[in-house]
Amino acid sequence: MAEAMQLAYEERGSGPVLAFIHGFPLDRRMWIGQISGLAKKRRCVALDLRGHGLSTIDDADPAFSMDLFADDVVATLDEVGADKADICGLSMGGYVAFALWRRHPDRVRSLILCDTKAEADGDEAKAGREKTAQLVREQGLQPLVETLAPKLLGSNPTEGSQTSLRDMFLAQPPNVIAADCLAMRDRPDSTGDLAGITVPTLVVHGDADQLMPVDGAKAMAEKIKGATFAAIAGGGHMAPMEYPKETNAAIAAFLG
Ligand code: MLT
Repeated sequence: MAEAMQLAYEERGSGPVLAFIHGFPLDRRMWIGQISGLAKKRRCVALDLRGHGLSTIDDADPAFSMDLFADDVVATLDEVGADKADICGLSMGGYVAFALWRRHPDRVRSLILCDTKAEADGDEAKAGREKTAQLVREQGLQPLVETLAPKLLGSNPTEGSQTSLRDMFLAQPPNVIAADCLAMRDRPDSTGDLAGITVPTLVVHGDADQLMPVDGAKAMAEKIKGATFAAIAGGGHMAPMEYPKETNAAIAAFLG
């Protein structure tokens, strides 16, 4: 049976498109500080990947992949009439950015990789994804809020960022988040693609990221020819949400 799907996005500003891809288990709202702060520089478009936020998916047990998510980005670029865009992805959104680069390099003007990594999951991490998928299916998002949300923030989390994260977690459908887990389990290793990236690239990373230590991001930047690296002091995994001003300054300087 054909799957009914509608992709939602939020946009602000004018000029060349800067597209934002959210992380797990979140939606476009994580980029609110970027869409408002960078709208003078770019037409900022933050999408909800299929099933997340306001995007729909008419399938009780959906199967996702980074490739399908990359196609969601392309569909959104088509919708807003952009042949190419600066592509900014955080964490899982970065995995999607790598898939987009592999599948549709002609649509990518530049890459902004936030708090992400190129490596695939190892065996232990894959088993963890399966457990999380099952947990979420059985108990919803609440247990993830308790265990994962505190690890996403940096050394000095504000109450506002804690509340926003919590609200976003709890707004996501459990079947969608379970499908995210399995899609991340199955994502390919992108390390081999790094040397072949030919578009300008910024790697921006919270230096207090507990999930993906900053040294890994520096090493990733060194493998991408000409890449710029920017650390966000005190920022955790959700550095753009926690430190929008500093993250926006790094992005604005990169975009020139
Ligand atoms: C994310 O923030 O998107 C996730 O932490 C990615 C992951 O679990 O690998």
